[in-house]
Amino acid sequence: MIVAFCLSGVMASAQTPDAEKAFVKENMTFAAEQYQLMLKTPPQGKEGKGVMPHSLRKDGTPSKGSIYLWTAGFFPGSLWYISEYLDDSALQDSALVYTQKMEPIKSFTDNHDIGFMMYCSYGNANRFEPQPEYKDILVESACSLCTRFRPKAGVIQSWNGFRSWHGDKVYDFPVIIDNMMNLELLFYASKVTGDDSFKDVAISHAEHTMQNQVRDDYSCFHIVYYDKETGKPIKGETSQGYSDNSAWSRGQAWGIYGFTMCYRETGDKRFLKTAQGMADFYLDHPNLPSDKVAWWDFNANQPGYVPGVRSNANKVVLNYRDASAAACTASALLELSTYVKGDKSRKYLEGAKAILHTLGSGKYRAELGKNGNFILMHSTGAIPQNSEIDVPLTYADYYFLEALYRYDRMLDGKKPL
Ligand code: GLY
Repeated sequence: MIVAFCLSGVMASAQTPDAEKAFVKENMTFAAEQYQLMLKTPPQGKEGKGVMPHSLRKDGTPSKGSIYLWTAGFFPGSLWYISEYLDDSALQDSALVYTQKMEPIKSFTDNHDIGFMMYCSYGNANRFEPQPEYKDILVESACSLCTRFRPKAGVIQSWNGFRSWHGDKVYDFPVIIDNMMNLELLFYASKVTGDDSFKDVAISHAEHTMQNQVRDDYSCFHIVYYDKETGKPIKGETSQGYSDNSAWSRGQAWGIYGFTMCYRETGDKRFLKTAQGMADFYLDHPNLPSDKVAWWDFNANQPGYVPGVRSNANKVVLNYRDASAAACTASALLELSTYVKGDKSRKYLEGAKAILHTLGSGKYRAELGKNGNFILMHSTGAIPQNSEIDVPLTYADYYFLEALYRYDRMLDGKKPL
């Protein structure tokens, strides 16, 4: 039975819980088959160090990166979600093999991405098949991340430097909205060690990001540059968005997810308000397509938005979707829907369901054995860098699977995580 109803001016289809459970199962079963094929593809690069599926090469085979690529933790994390859902011990063995490849990253301090890398791999391993050594690896990873905390500014430094698309300067203290995703590792480390300093860093980072990076309309700057001497924010710009003042959709997704998670971990209503504001920005935006998979930037090619002179976004006239932004948003909206009540809760849940059904349709989901054995098509990595345009990306798959896993739990009347 399908019941159509109108929600915030959008027609949504409400399926029975059984039909929704079957939808999740069909997608997870497909994901298992597709990733079985992925597991058969060989390593790449010098000395076979390219082991972690990342995106697609021009010849249709997957491109793979080393464990030092920011996306390296997503493939093991995806294997954990699929194997846990299907209770598939062979896939679980593979999840473990790929997780263990990540161990050297525990001491990585060259950028902020260790949260993505280690919490998606070892964090999920620890959640689904806990072992005492995982805790030590994760706590050491949290210590590594904290080496980048700059007390004067109150934030974790994301990158060591960034050359502005305007070509005028190289900034030496950039913080990007993506960094919100790394904080979950710190909250975990405080819980298992009893040492509040990890969570104090996370809270400080989230508070300063809320003040300096989130705009009044609840969109956000991709980057904020800070002054190393004074710790004060200098200005907001973009790296992967269309223009400095535009809303890069994956940045929006990182914010929705990150502030929702910060609310879960702290109970601080300011984080909930920010998560809701950012979610409403996404769902209510006039440029959001009716299938709820966002364009790569909400403001691409719009009047009033001008890329920096060095940005490849100046040359791209076609518009592209970003399935990765939508998948991450769906996963975050599911959790967010459980922290609010009534119409708000329904709005976030229906938004997530709409995204999941779009991504699970033939418009976005690949055929078996195609798409380099990734699950989803049509993501956008970095148009300004002229990189990864309309391709599969491992993190689109990861957040799609995470959202399906969360949704299934909610259909069973459980908390999403
Ligand atoms: N964290 C990099 C990106 O979102 O592309």
